[in-house]
Amino acid sequence: MENNQDYRITQKPFYLPITDEVEVFERAWAEQIPLLLKGPTGCGKTRFVEFMVYNLGQKLIRVTKGSKGLTADKRDYSQGVGSLYTVACHEDLTARDLTGRYIMKGGEAVWIDGPATMAVKQGAILYLDEVVEARKDVTTIIHPLTDHRRILPLEALGIQVKAAASFMVVISYNPGYQSIRKNLKPSTKQRFIALNFGYPPPEKESVIIQNEGMVSKEIAEKLVLLGSDIRNITTIDLEEGVSTRGLIHAAKLIKRGISPKRACSLAIAQTVTDEKEEIAAIEIIIDKIFR
Ligand SMILES: Nc1ncnc2c1ncn2[C@@H]1O[C@H](COP(=O)(O)OP(=O)(O)OP(=O)(O)O)[C@@H](O)[C@H]1O
Ligand SMILES: [Mg+2]
Repeated sequence: MENNQDYRITQKPFYLPITDEVEVFERAWAEQIPLLLKGPTGCGKTRFVEFMVYNLGQKLIRVTKGSKGLTADKRDYSQGVGSLYTVACHEDLTARDLTGRYIMKGGEAVWIDGPATMAVKQGAILYLDEVVEARKDVTTIIHPLTDHRRILPLEALGIQVKAAASFMVVISYNPGYQSIRKNLKPSTKQRFIALNFGYPPPEKESVIIQNEGMVSKEIAEKLVLLGSDIRNITTIDLEEGVSTRGLIHAAKLIKRGISPKRACSLAIAQTVTDEKEEIAAIEIIIDKIFR
């Protein structure tokens, strides 16, 4: 079996829970229900998954209360628990990229497991990021993996692999950019439970910025205010509001000695839009907050 060391989350990620998402993940995992995360870019979806996978690896997840199905304690914490296989989906991604392929080695064809096969065998978490981008045939492997069967068909080998008890599928997408062409089928979506992520509320976003950006409370609060002003702006129609990630980038530049106005222009105004007038409108808000 492949080495899963590279996929283990060994450092505790900083994650500030926003509502009940930690409990929801724990229970979904205990009941073998796959999880769908929706939300705008840079709002904490990936960080959340990393945090939960770390907790699994540290055996911090103990779900027994009210859980009639499998419980954490009954799982064999086999080698893959605490490992995360993340796949950034794109329009050329096929089912085969997930399952595996033959490669030529010394004149011989050798089968190499793909990320889904490794996660299934090891009982790890398989995280399919921006899943709506993937080719349609990817659903042919998602479906049997995410219902009661929990099997991964390996067509090229003519076999099916049964998922280890601790295996779980997590998928995410951003409903904001969705077109009709790129949507999950109801038969796919309804195999999951869905957690809707948004931007953290102001007090929490401030704590996150202070922690990640290593800036003072005062700076963090100004950045939070800037974020909410930009997200609520009605005079311009931004494709998407500023992300928590963008606010953290501004904080990091400020910490490194770049003036707050310049930092916000670089990390925020210039990245949420390319339209001159919109950039100017955002820079007016920046000037007001960081006089
Ligand atoms: N609740 C939170 N606790 C700790 N950090 C957070 C939280 N929410 C957001 N962050 C910070 O925001 C950054 C961006 O979050 P993350 O990369 O998880 O976003 P995402 O939702 O996966 O975005 P994308 O859809 O673009 O992949 C993280 O690196 C982290 O610093
Ligand atoms: Mg992400």
